[in-house]
Amino acid sequence: MRVYFKFATFQTIINYHISHFMFSKEIYLQRRKTLMEKVGNGLILLLGNGEVGRNYKANEYRFRQDSNFLYYTGLENPHVAAILDADSHVTHFFGHDFSMDDVIWTGYETSLKALAAKTGIHNTYPFDHIASTLQQAIAQGRKIHFLPPYRHENSLYLHTWLGFPIAYLTEKSSPTLIQAIVNQRAVKSDEELREMEAAVNTSRAIHIALMQRAKAGMKEAELVGIAEGIARATGNGLAYFPIVTVQGQTLHNHYDQNTLVAGQMMLADVGAESYQGYAADITRTFPVNQQFTTQQKEIYQIVLKANEQIIAHIRPGVTYRAMHLMAARIIAEGLKALGLMQGDTDAAVEEGAHALFMPHGLGHLIGLDVHDMEDLGEDYVGYTSDIVRSKQFGTAYLRFAKILQMGHTLTVEPGIYFIPALIDKWQKERKFTSFINYDKISDYRNFTGIRIEDNIVVTSDGCRVLGHPIPKSIEAVEALRGVI
Ligand code: GLY
Ligand code: MN
Repeated sequence: MRVYFKFATFQTIINYHISHFMFSKEIYLQRRKTLMEKVGNGLILLLGNGEVGRNYKANEYRFRQDSNFLYYTGLENPHVAAILDADSHVTHFFGHDFSMDDVIWTGYETSLKALAAKTGIHNTYPFDHIASTLQQAIAQGRKIHFLPPYRHENSLYLHTWLGFPIAYLTEKSSPTLIQAIVNQRAVKSDEELREMEAAVNTSRAIHIALMQRAKAGMKEAELVGIAEGIARATGNGLAYFPIVTVQGQTLHNHYDQNTLVAGQMMLADVGAESYQGYAADITRTFPVNQQFTTQQKEIYQIVLKANEQIIAHIRPGVTYRAMHLMAARIIAEGLKALGLMQGDTDAAVEEGAHALFMPHGLGHLIGLDVHDMEDLGEDYVGYTSDIVRSKQFGTAYLRFAKILQMGHTLTVEPGIYFIPALIDKWQKERKFTSFINYDKISDYRNFTGIRIEDNIVVTSDGCRVLGHPIPKSIEAVEALRGVI
């Protein structure tokens, strides 16, 4: 019995079926050709992901292919790799042939040759030939371009094949390859946009179901279950760990054991992944009661205004940092009208006082990853030598600040949060007392948080919100809550 067989589980059957969902072979051939042209010379190593054991080796997490490997091959199978020769433009594919055991236990019936042929590659080799292929190239003085690893198994492979200490693999990875991939993947094609719309539409069904079904006495986890069920029924499941919480002031709150109490707000940051691995990232916030309280409505309207105004202003040629700062000004202005902030709005935002209420960035690129290409390094994705990351608390967390281009897909996700520990710290430090009215904030201490997030594509003269509209006005949200 081969080692590979021992790790195979029922899960692999699902992977096999998913591999039917690919774009046409020509798309992957063209993507690889463009990449090889941009990189120019040397060998480009693209490593697929392996299976990862959850509590023992054969009881695995649900498999997710590496997004770069997926983008350039469309293949969802674990334990495969490709080497693209940027000098000769020949591509080599590495993996395992399948035995009768694999067929019996996993449903695999495709040979390695047939698998590679699906993506237009005709040179196949056993997986363990990667080492000799790379070593031969190194001996010839050729450059090996590889990407920063994020899975330990792939770190071990790179360490073994290339000899670099594991701690230096990111530093030794190829900026030329990273930059070429970032530029190529950042601009989405029509077929990618269709996948992303499918992911948003599944997310829309989830958010509508949550707004219709949430009620006092339920556990957050029951809503997570509804979301996961819908996402699995029409795609790859959820694109990231869902945030479904009555404690929305904790930005990435993954705890789901609270019981919903009348008067609270539910923040649901839940996005589905399409069959081909494209993400949606959608947030809605709604009252556990049928209606928002006046205080909740007032804060909600400010966040909604920021979301809608930014969507109205996005267009090619503006930087996303400018959009982030515009959202910060809308939030500061709104909070000023409620007496929570004071003084000159522009100066407050310039100095970073608004970050008490929105300590995160306006949004990020989205695509095959929810934070698209974050594995390649956030500064490569979101910044340039001219547009450098701010050091200021709040704006420093903006993941993407570059000039917008047609075909960029982004999240727009302003929010207002009341984070008691942060409020106490700033108040104790007497931070921004000319811009922040700490006395007034005490009325909002247990308010939690509101975020409203949509996904957009930059068009020739503006932007388009992806998918069918997901209710977000107070009236539309309350109408859905009315059916409980
Ligand atoms: N949806 C979570 C995030 O954008 O970080
Ligand atoms: Mn997001």
